[in-house]
Amino acid sequence: MTTQQFPVNFLWGGATAANQLEGAYQTDGKGLSLPDVLPAGKQRMQIVNQPDFDFSIDEQKYFYPNHLGIDHYHHFKEDIALFAEMGFKCYRFSIAWSRIFPNGDDAQPNEAGLKFYDALIAECLKYQIEPVITISHYEMPLHLVKQYGGWKNKKLIDFYEKFARTVLTRYYKQVKYWMTFNEINSAAHFPIMSQGLAAANGANDKKNIFQAWHNQFVASAKAVKIGHELDANLQIGCMILYATTYSYDANPVNQVATMKANQENNFFCADVQVRGHYPAYTQSLLAKYNLQFTDLDYTTEELELLAHYPVDYIGFSYYMSSVEEVTQKDHESVNGNLMGGVRNPFLKTSDWGWQIDPDGLRIALNQLYDRYQKPLFIVENGLGAHDKLDANNYVVDDYRIDYLRQHIQAIGQALADGVDVMGYTPWGCIDLVSASTGEMSKRYGFIYVDVDDQGQGTFKRYKKKSFNWYQQVIASNGANL
Ligand code: BG6
Repeated sequence: MTTQQFPVNFLWGGATAANQLEGAYQTDGKGLSLPDVLPAGKQRMQIVNQPDFDFSIDEQKYFYPNHLGIDHYHHFKEDIALFAEMGFKCYRFSIAWSRIFPNGDDAQPNEAGLKFYDALIAECLKYQIEPVITISHYEMPLHLVKQYGGWKNKKLIDFYEKFARTVLTRYYKQVKYWMTFNEINSAAHFPIMSQGLAAANGANDKKNIFQAWHNQFVASAKAVKIGHELDANLQIGCMILYATTYSYDANPVNQVATMKANQENNFFCADVQVRGHYPAYTQSLLAKYNLQFTDLDYTTEELELLAHYPVDYIGFSYYMSSVEEVTQKDHESVNGNLMGGVRNPFLKTSDWGWQIDPDGLRIALNQLYDRYQKPLFIVENGLGAHDKLDANNYVVDDYRIDYLRQHIQAIGQALADGVDVMGYTPWGCIDLVSASTGEMSKRYGFIYVDVDDQGQGTFKRYKKKSFNWYQQVIASNGANL
């Protein structure tokens, strides 16, 4: 196997999202955000998608894990020190919109919220850790969902623009790397997280999903414009969920279905954000849902904005691959982060049924680079597992080390293939609340946090075996795996 040395400036690090780790959900003027109304447990998505879901909190009935997170808000110095001990070159985190604009449509930003990120960024820089900021990661102020109906409403563009301008202006001197929306394409299957759309406010009408995407594309282009006007050297990326998709077999019917699935699930959003225009297949994709492009509310100025302000790089998450099969109905199925699907008999699955496929990451890197010729940043990858703290407060997570080692080897192979990869930030570098299930017991971290699915525990941090392993990977720039 041919692998390549990692570039000297390769951005090794880890990734988190504000709503999944900060906690302190009403501290220092923070407003309620969408994840604050997502209950814990595997049924969280079904609960949210009940037609009468009213986006309110019912503590008699449910526990809300995002309210506590891992209390990073009060532990961030300790957490960043641990990241520094691992040798992180960068740290990807997001800014909670509702800390800065508690309702989303406020006239003035909340200075206390900005002060928290002043301190967080300063703490990173103290250790020469490059901050990588996701402007919006699976959350928005709840008021924007209740009052305006989420991203299907064009007013959200202005609110986001104000939020983006506020944080870009405040931090552009310290922060070079940004992403506009986390996993923007995930709305194809989970519109609640990135668009604030559930069954109760229009998620079942595909027109709303496409309208919300269009609004987000415009908002993203505005953020790129603002950022580049502040400093032309800022690197502002998109962020997509990528699940390498195989045809089940050589049947051309499945091959065509795979091509279509790739367009819809993997490429559509990135095509617009990277190339600056809607792809040629847009009309055929919309026709699948009996829609026309002209059904959407857009202006010529908006399309020009998209053309003038494409993103600088492609951030993406990669956890698993999937299989497309449309000719038979009785295959064994599996779960997944974007969608479940047909089981691939060549792959093992995680404890949560996600298909583990390091070669799929090499393929993803090649596919994305062939298509866009822009730098790629793997900003999420990792294994959610049931970690157990032993009597010595240690977790022997060899399964996670194996998973990460194989994926890093795949990155080395893609580098040898000629792909331009900027960095690698494994997901949930410290244990945090799962986005899809609201569990703490689905752990990804190098650092164990003592809190359980009901929010009980000491919140103490413990290094897992993978902590020292990753430290040695970074110290050797990927040579010592
Ligand atoms: C990505 C999201 O889809 O996957 C993260 O960007 C999320 O927010 C991660 O946490 C892992 O998914 P989950 O559901 O296991 O937390």
